[in-house]
Amino acid sequence: MSEGRTPKGLFIETYGCQMNVYDSERMRDVLAPLGYAPVDKPDDADLVVLNTCHIREKATEKVYSEIGRLRAHKERRAGEGKGMTIAIAGCVAQAEGEEIIRRAPEVDLVVGPQAYHKLPELIARAARKTGERLAADFTAQERFDALPARAADGVTAFLSIQEGCDKFCTFCVVPYTRGAEYSRPLADVMTEARSLAEQGVREITLLGQNVNAYHGDASFADLVRALARIDGLERLRYMTSHPVEMTDDLIGLHGDEPKLMPFLHLPVQSGSDRILKAMNRKHDGAFFRDIIARLRRVRPDIALSTDFIVGFPGEREQDFEDTMQLVRDIGFASAYSFKYSPRPGTPAAAMMGHVDEAVQNERLQRLQKLLFEQQRAFNESQVGAVLPVLVSGNGRRPGQKYGRSPYLQAVHFDDTQARDGDIVPVRILAGTQNALAGARVVLTPEVA
Ligand code: SAH
Ligand code: SF4
Ligand code: F3S
Repeated sequence: MSEGRTPKGLFIETYGCQMNVYDSERMRDVLAPLGYAPVDKPDDADLVVLNTCHIREKATEKVYSEIGRLRAHKERRAGEGKGMTIAIAGCVAQAEGEEIIRRAPEVDLVVGPQAYHKLPELIARAARKTGERLAADFTAQERFDALPARAADGVTAFLSIQEGCDKFCTFCVVPYTRGAEYSRPLADVMTEARSLAEQGVREITLLGQNVNAYHGDASFADLVRALARIDGLERLRYMTSHPVEMTDDLIGLHGDEPKLMPFLHLPVQSGSDRILKAMNRKHDGAFFRDIIARLRRVRPDIALSTDFIVGFPGEREQDFEDTMQLVRDIGFASAYSFKYSPRPGTPAAAMMGHVDEAVQNERLQRLQKLLFEQQRAFNESQVGAVLPVLVSGNGRRPGQKYGRSPYLQAVHFDDTQARDGDIVPVRILAGTQNALAGARVVLTPEVA
């Protein structure tokens, strides 16, 4: 059989969070030995994978419209005597697998996040047209072990160390789509990290739905310490964290470990204790403020990012004002904010006190205005500073390079010498809401 030799086109479209970005990379790794190589557009693809997100209603609806669009590509290819396998992966596959199969006959395969290592087998089965089109099984924790060695491209990489969530915030589908918390063994994480470093990766972002809930055979803080000792790895980040898992040890590490970057994404969702309780967040506003105060004590320059939901059932004007006050008091370098979206099967979807859409919109606008102002102010506050920038590509204009500051800001700077993977000093000359501009500082020999 010539299988595995003829190159076949693979097109993966990724929605949702970084876990999905990581998973899409891993799917590419799993499919490469079968001869699948990435192509730029679905028309050239023998296999299209939609890696989907279920977090809000809009995200889920997108999947069905995208499937509709793929149908046209599939028909066009069929007219040319070429096949196209359509696979739906990710959290919508997990949550609504049966419904997708029912609603979308052009879909050949539905595969949940725990079954990606079985993709080759599932694709072969789909090709044999057995009529069996669903594979959303949910149990396999063998999936990490079953995935092949990791291929790195670039100087930054995601590394998934933890999956799933046991927190059950009342608005959230993740505990249902990603299952119970599972932590990978320390040795496996170390092996993957060393391999990434050997392939030129300088910065790793540790991933998990509740990454700091990591409870493998080491604590999360010990895992970070072990990773920091890997030669060649210069920067470590992690996301997403839950406030109740910010241990003293981890907070302290932000002061002690220079490779741990001074940026933390720590979702708070609301500033109102009433709403936090209804959300089952397991902490109040004072607890969150205290964590931030302690982080700033050990690492005064730490940049903070968070998530908010506005218009959660029962949110009154005063609750929303408590959120605004929390934002004013803390000051965020960046943040995501969303209108509450009721999700089928979650406790909040059955709660009383629906907030009118117009009120939701108006609150979201007020919140985002404040958050954008803070983001711009944070970026502008860097003007004049010299920041170490990890170079990862070319900048906007010719003669420019691109990279990230320690605070995760995008930096475009004048320089032609730096290579990807270098960490170079850049003087910041301008800051906008979304990026910084600057020029590389050339050190004189006496200073260097
Ligand atoms: N595990 C992470 C990420 C969860 S999803 C965490 O605990 O923060 C990312 C963000 O989506 C959440 O922080 C929340 O702000 C938002 N989100 C989740 N469910 C939502 C819903 N039903 N409606 C609106 N926003 C939601
Ligand atoms: Fe969802 Fe809450 Fe778990 Fe985050 S901690 S994934 S918001 S249930
Ligand atoms: Fe979306 Fe699933 Fe991530 S629901 S946010 S892709 S865990």
